[in-house]
Amino acid sequence: MAFRKRILCIGAGYVGGPTMAVIADKCPQYKVTVVDINRARIEAWNSPNLPIYEPGLDAVVERARGRNLFFSANIDAGIREADIIFVSVNTPTKNFGQGAGYASDLQYLEQTARRILEVSDRPKIIVEKSTLPVRTAEAMERILDSTPRGVHFDVLSNPEFLAEGSAIADLENPDRVLLGARDTASGQKALAEIVRIYANWVPRERILTTNVWSSELSKLTANAFLAQRISSINTISALCERTEANVDEVAFAIGRDSRIGPKFLKASVGFGGSCFKKDILNLVYLCRHYGLMEVADYWESVVRLNDWQQHRFVGRMLTHMFNTIAGKRVAVFGFAFKADTGDTRETPALTVVRDLLAEHAVPVITDPKAIPEARHDLADALDRVEFTEDPYEAVKGAHAIAVCTEWQQFVRLDYAKIFALMRKPAFVFDGRNILDHRKLYDVGFNVVPIGKAELIHH
Ligand code: NAD
Ligand code: UGA
Repeated sequence: MAFRKRILCIGAGYVGGPTMAVIADKCPQYKVTVVDINRARIEAWNSPNLPIYEPGLDAVVERARGRNLFFSANIDAGIREADIIFVSVNTPTKNFGQGAGYASDLQYLEQTARRILEVSDRPKIIVEKSTLPVRTAEAMERILDSTPRGVHFDVLSNPEFLAEGSAIADLENPDRVLLGARDTASGQKALAEIVRIYANWVPRERILTTNVWSSELSKLTANAFLAQRISSINTISALCERTEANVDEVAFAIGRDSRIGPKFLKASVGFGGSCFKKDILNLVYLCRHYGLMEVADYWESVVRLNDWQQHRFVGRMLTHMFNTIAGKRVAVFGFAFKADTGDTRETPALTVVRDLLAEHAVPVITDPKAIPEARHDLADALDRVEFTEDPYEAVKGAHAIAVCTEWQQFVRLDYAKIFALMRKPAFVFDGRNILDHRKLYDVGFNVVPIGKAELIHH
């Protein structure tokens, strides 16, 4: 079959893999190839064991792989044949030099731009899929314009809003697709080409088009607003604990105001994930760069508050467990940064485990998907941490359970059986408010939720 266009995606990670799989699935008339410098990752994408866990992903890949979806380590061949190149490489926080700890490390992005320039011998559309600082497209254009062969590239911005754990649903039914393009004849023609791809399954009114800079900045802003809601409700959780108000009731009550809305108001041990912290710190860096110190401080407080909430969790454990947890086994329920993913990047569970270790407690981590990642993240402490996929194993001889991830599996466990396996008095610290606290108390547990009254046996 002759394909309408050839799409390449550089970067086969959490975004590149699922996004391209859905595009290929929905648009059989396009050939979609995903490349990566990480050969092991490409091999995994070509195997029955995909490199990431995402509900529904296997079926989508299964339908399209080998038909019009291909994973390859041959980056240059991919660039050469492509008409449209999505760039979905990682953009972590810079950990060296100027802007260390705040700015985006754009070295991977620049490497791809230089590779594209080197290999291309005809015009292409370049689509920024990675999350980038506002005005990055300008730098990208300047690199691509330095071609001695005079090849023309149009650079568009198309940030991704999927959340892990619901990536396939988010991609198949997005609230919106955002595309930013230059207001030139060539920019608008390229824009129409990318709109045409998404229009295969996304209603036209949900495909938003803006200028490039608005599109780039909207991505950072969306993540900042989402994270800010969590930090805001977490501040209120601390106040609830002092005042006998109940944070879930407060969240419900304010969420009924249609101007506020109910989503992203779940108080927790703190937000994690690869992007919220990095993107806000990037925003902070940009604001400082432009001399907007008050704006920078405002957004930085969202991250500071999140750090505080994570440390506060172990602080409360210490207070309730008689001011010492040294030598005590603590079953850590969940290590992934959220349910339905094996991803542990910036997971609050790691802060909790590190704080437990600092108190000389013995963390026993249980998680249905993230044990390999947990071992990797705690490589320096393997002699002091235990791991098991079986929660009933994890609680044996433990003084406390610390719920760090909202896996539904944890809700369905037999807590009478668990209570019997634990040391007494047995504590549950529910960092996600997912368990039935009254029922746990009736079983015999002392229960310490987030943002609501503790249930303690005296
Ligand atoms: P990731 O680390 O999972 O994947 C990035 C991939 O790019 C890696 O496999 C890496 O090997 C590859 N890569 C790096 N440099 C390369 C190069 N020069 N040539 C070829 N491949 C190269 O990252 P991710 O989570 O997919 O995130 C990618 C981007 O998308 C980031 O900017 C992130 O902020 C953004 N984003 C992520 C999410 C998410 O849920 N993870 C959601 C929206 C946006
Ligand atoms: C987030 C955004 O939701 C996506 O739109 C965005 O594309 C993505 O970041 C990104 O740019 O990487 P993600 O980090 O995958 O997605 O997951 P979220 O569902 O946003 O959860 C982030 C963290 O906040 C998790 O630790 C979650 O448990 C926590 N959270 C979420 C809360 O503590 N309370 C809530 O009410 C919601």
